[in-house]
Amino acid sequence: MTERPGNPKPRMTRIVKDKAIINALGFPGKGIEYSVQNLKKHNAIKSRIILSISGTIEDEIVECIKLANDFTSAFEINISSPNTSGLKIFQEPSRLRGLIEVIKKHTKKPIIIKFPPWNSFLDNKSEIIKMIETSLNSGIDGMIISNTHPRESKKIKIGKGGLSGKPIFTDTLKMIREIQAINKGFADIIACGGISSANDLWKVLASGAKAAQIYTSLVYEGPRLPSKINNDLIVLMKLAGITKLSDINGDPPKI
Ligand SMILES: Cc1cc2nc3c(=O)[nH]c(=O)nc-3n(C[C@H](O)[C@H](O)[C@H](O)COP(=O)(O)O)c2cc1C
Repeated sequence: MTERPGNPKPRMTRIVKDKAIINALGFPGKGIEYSVQNLKKHNAIKSRIILSISGTIEDEIVECIKLANDFTSAFEINISSPNTSGLKIFQEPSRLRGLIEVIKKHTKKPIIIKFPPWNSFLDNKSEIIKMIETSLNSGIDGMIISNTHPRESKKIKIGKGGLSGKPIFTDTLKMIREIQAINKGFADIIACGGISSANDLWKVLASGAKAAQIYTSLVYEGPRLPSKINNDLIVLMKLAGITKLSDINGDPPKI
């Protein structure tokens, strides 16, 4: 809601050889009023803006929704940053259900939940699947699978952060395939974690995702990356003889 300093620095480190990042930013920001002023300036492209909101207090999240409701096309609720103390309260299914219900009272815009990752190393799959089932039963419109993976690092002041970038892509793909089994088309899946090329995008779309979110590959490759990925995907689709994203299936064709 109000301005936040985030975690103490250093709070980000690049692992260049792996095209990865570990960050523990802890949501530094200028607050919702400042963000809403920015959103107002971009009202002409509102239909392409999804606002990401996170927080540890239900009332604060609701206040952000109320203030931003007219200036965005959908809300992403991030309950999965590993770097923000207190955020885990919304990973408890009844708290999550309550949060979604109260948000729905204040907006008709689509609600997308950004979930934490799971894998055999984290040993948390059943816990996260419960969160996802609760959210689907509460009528969410989309889910982001998933976020950074918790990792210890001596280069980060607080000693740990979230790993992002290429090393987490295999897990992203696996999670999407597992989620498709329980989702049954109720909510759209947005793939997130290590996506950096049209080949990666093809694989997540073929596994059931409807769209993708990228961050670390943008840091390494620069702002032209999204249009390069889109153009390369068109080339792959032409090679495969298809014209619709929903027809993407199997492995990407070899160039
Ligand atoms: C420096 C940095 C800051 C981030 N800040 C946020 C954030 O404020 N909210 C959020 O939901 N995710 C945040 N993320 C996570 C990314 O949105 C994304 O979920 C994650 O990095 C995995 O995708 P990637 O491998 O494409 O980076 C951040 C990631 C990085 C590297």
